Amino acid sequence: MGAKIISGTETAKAIREELKLEIDELRAKHNVVPGLVTILVGDDPASQSYVAAKNKTAHALGIHSEQVTLPAGTSEEELLELVGKFNDDPKIHGILIQLPLPRHINEAKVLYAIDPDKDVDGFHPVNVGKMMLGEQCFLPCTPHGVLELLMRAGVETSGAEVVVIGRSNIVGKPVANLMLQKRPGGNATVTLCHTRTKDMDFHTKRADILIVAAGVANMIKGDQVKEGVVVIDVGVNRIGTTESGKAKLAGDVEFDSVRDKAAAITPVPGGVGPMTITMLMKNTVQSARQHAGLV
Ligand code: GUN
Repeated sequence: MGAKIISGTETAKAIREELKLEIDELRAKHNVVPGLVTILVGDDPASQSYVAAKNKTAHALGIHSEQVTLPAGTSEEELLELVGKFNDDPKIHGILIQLPLPRHINEAKVLYAIDPDKDVDGFHPVNVGKMMLGEQCFLPCTPHGVLELLMRAGVETSGAEVVVIGRSNIVGKPVANLMLQKRPGGNATVTLCHTRTKDMDFHTKRADILIVAAGVANMIKGDQVKEGVVVIDVGVNRIGTTESGKAKLAGDVEFDSVRDKAAAITPVPGGVGPMTITMLMKNTVQSARQHAGLV
């Protein structure tokens, strides 16, 4: 039995087509052009490629996009000053600071300095708090992408046993929270597993929906899941380079063995990754609307 492949590439493309129409209409009817700035500190190759992909997608959709690349030695003070400048810039509706930041910079301090109304990553405590309360806010991009993938693939989450592996602030904690909210795409019974979980297999084997965001290549294997599970693999692990010199990627899930038992599964690459970027665009458009008083 072959699992259905949930394609993030296809789903993201469909959402981007919807967004493009919305952006064209915003420009034509309201003279509003959504604006995004991405800020990268240092020269980490993975971060460079993520930021480049975000800017490329923004351009393709007609979003005004600025990219700031700063040397690894940039001080916290300089970065805070830059954030302040973009907080006050009316052309910019979304500010994204690529993580991780160099160790000498206090990540929380910088993220908290972003105007919550421009926090299209959804990392500011105001947005995190609103998300927990089920209020309208910017949802963090990867968890939001997971939710959209499940909903558009027609996966029933209400009453489902959802098991999340990984408790990061960027994925594990927020995705667990979104899945239990009382609204479409939520209403699940959620278990959050992490490095101190005593019997991981006990949990993975009873999952109806398994969301893996542990950052460990091929960690979940076919004998750890039940027949008919829906698997969302958030892992992006660089496990070498291809012959053409590109990064070779593996998910947190051993695709071949898990696919044999799953009802549906996301691939890596081409699963959650394209959704994350698309949700950033969606949040930027939402922010532009809010700033223009159009919501
Ligand atoms: N680094 C890894 N994932 C993310 C993300 O979703 N947003 C930002 N800003 N940095 C990241």
